[in-house]
Amino acid sequence: MDQNQLKLAVANAAVDYSLTRIDQRSVIGIGTGSTANFFIDAIAAHRHKFAGTVASSSASEERLKALDIPVLELNSVAEITVYVDGADEINPQLQLIKGGGAALTREKIVAAVAREFVCIADQSKWVEHLGAFPLPVEVIPMARSYVARELLKLGGDPVWRDGVVTDNGNVIIDVHGLLPIAADGSLERAINQITGVVTNGLFALKPASLVLLGTDSGIQTHHC
Ligand code: A5P
Repeated sequence: MDQNQLKLAVANAAVDYSLTRIDQRSVIGIGTGSTANFFIDAIAAHRHKFAGTVASSSASEERLKALDIPVLELNSVAEITVYVDGADEINPQLQLIKGGGAALTREKIVAAVAREFVCIADQSKWVEHLGAFPLPVEVIPMARSYVARELLKLGGDPVWRDGVVTDNGNVIIDVHGLLPIAADGSLERAINQITGVVTNGLFALKPASLVLLGTDSGIQTHHC
């Protein structure tokens, strides 16, 4: 199977799983990226089985609305039953690097609110240690150079993602050279302590609850 077929297979598996968790009052958190797009397309046929969705990006919101799937404001929602999203890297502790699509802050907010975070990915995202994929950091624009200098002190090699503005009006710095990232959450905390950082794409302190991984030999299920 090629990568898109694997993404489609995990998206369908995530729809099946979500249907076992939701009812008419449920809100589903929707991720961002190519794998999440397969999920959006597949859940559309079941749009009458839940109350609505919260989107982690403007791009996903547009795609949901185009398929007549209700999109709700997070501030009007008390709980998200299940949040389904992709990742850029996943380790065996189900910790993630996210933010390749620059939506990391809203993704982290939706993950924080969700009762369950189901991460869906093809097998290429599974790694022993996080950090080969550059870690995205969302930064207030005026703090860009300062934050880059502080990231250097933490041992990273910061690269401004030139031309990219997030849905929140901020910039992205991708931090290279961090492999291996320790699994103890210390780097996630340290980066978030830098003034001017909005958040970073390391999901170590709150990993995924469940990972559905599309592989050549079928869907693997990894629990926390
Ligand atoms: C978006 O900001 C990211 O966190 C995505 O979830 C991640 O980049 C995975 O994207 P793909 O599903 O396109 O690989």
